[in-house]
Amino acid sequence: MAKEEQWQSRAGFILAVIGSAVGLGNIWRFSYVAYDNGGGAFLIPYFIALVMIGIPILILEFSFGRKMRGSAALSFRKLAKKWEWLGWWPTLATLVLVIYYMAIIGWSLNYVFYSFGQVWGKNPEAFFYNQHLNLTSSVGQLGGINWTVFAAVFVIWIINYAIIYNGIENGIEKASKIFMPLLAILMLVITIRGITLPGAIEGINKYLQPDFSQLMNGEVWLAAFSQIFFTLSIGWGVMITYSSYQPEDSDIVNNAFIASLANCGFSFIVGLGVFSILGYMATQTGQPIEGLVAESIGLAFIAFPKAINMLPAFQTAFGSLFFISLVIAGLSSSISMIEATVANIQDKFAISRKKAASIVCLTSCLGSVLFTTGAGLYLLDIIDHFLMQFGAGLAAIFFCLVLGWGYGAQRLRKFMNQVSDFEIGVWWEIMIKLITPGILIIMFGKGVIANLT
Ligand code: PFF
Ligand code: NA
Repeated sequence: MAKEEQWQSRAGFILAVIGSAVGLGNIWRFSYVAYDNGGGAFLIPYFIALVMIGIPILILEFSFGRKMRGSAALSFRKLAKKWEWLGWWPTLATLVLVIYYMAIIGWSLNYVFYSFGQVWGKNPEAFFYNQHLNLTSSVGQLGGINWTVFAAVFVIWIINYAIIYNGIENGIEKASKIFMPLLAILMLVITIRGITLPGAIEGINKYLQPDFSQLMNGEVWLAAFSQIFFTLSIGWGVMITYSSYQPEDSDIVNNAFIASLANCGFSFIVGLGVFSILGYMATQTGQPIEGLVAESIGLAFIAFPKAINMLPAFQTAFGSLFFISLVIAGLSSSISMIEATVANIQDKFAISRKKAASIVCLTSCLGSVLFTTGAGLYLLDIIDHFLMQFGAGLAAIFFCLVLGWGYGAQRLRKFMNQVSDFEIGVWWEIMIKLITPGILIIMFGKGVIANLT
């Protein structure tokens, strides 16, 4: 049984999946999380989380979506009516996520323009908080809508809407085929510029030097696991949805490996660029790298503008290319989040894609307004934390247990091996049934305790 809508080619599917995975998370989030966790100290837990959690769950979502041929909620409903909620819950989390994710893409679009002539001036930090965000002094205080941000966010919503409205093949697949190669080229240019700057090597040292004492630090592990959920778009139901549009004979396991390695490889390379630039700044200012950025969440919007100010030449070009790549990375991810919701609504209420897309985009766009106010950054910080834990993290535990034990990991494995170039071993069943959920439950408990204390 095939779905009416399908990816036209394997490359189309892989590019769309990489588009979902590679996003603000790889540039904006990865760099500040790595920075916050001592640079290189972060890479080891990150890699372990990729192998123990990321790849097994990506394979799980791919096989389940392709087998059931439905959005997350429909797929779980086909499994058993009592599990339908397990599709809706992460979808709801994804919808909340996209509402503020759009705001950050909007900031990036603003910063493309600010790059011309370095509008942020001599003090990018003050500019970011006071002028750009118009930050209020607490969450309780909303402050007015920031119209420049609002305009940018609105434009991003319209672009998303247009792409999703046109469907899988003519919308998402076409867009991914343009966005992803373009993004790869842009990031390469930026990274090469970064590592050829004086002082870059100091930054790269900071990034690549493993600090084994950090392996005892639970916070670093938590950060690595959250980042894997975010960066691979797993635990959100998005990959179930994307996979449901795969043609009959597509190689599920192979696709999962290609996509996750491409995503993490991208992050790793961007990290080289980001830390090079931090190293350059450190030599220019004589400050240690650790002290360069106070508020790590603003790294891309504070440290980068600062670095751009110091560049010997091509400041505008470098700045605008960097922020354009953030916009493109963000767009291809936001499409996938909206698509997950649209597909669920389409399946549930038997309405057309165009109608579902219109409803979702219009209502969610209004939600984004909240994040264009002066309290936007505070709200974002709180919700981000919460979603990662009780959205993707908790949903993934259920995915593993319900599919691994309820539906049967061996059934999914057999199904995949029929269409795969290389057979996936029994290791995967053991991961999905025991090891992956085991680790996740421990991390979840740790996260809850960390929040309480
Ligand atoms: N993977 C995206 C990133 O790294 O920016 C974010 C993301 C996309 C999260 C899709 C969740 C999702 F469903
Ligand atoms: Na990512």
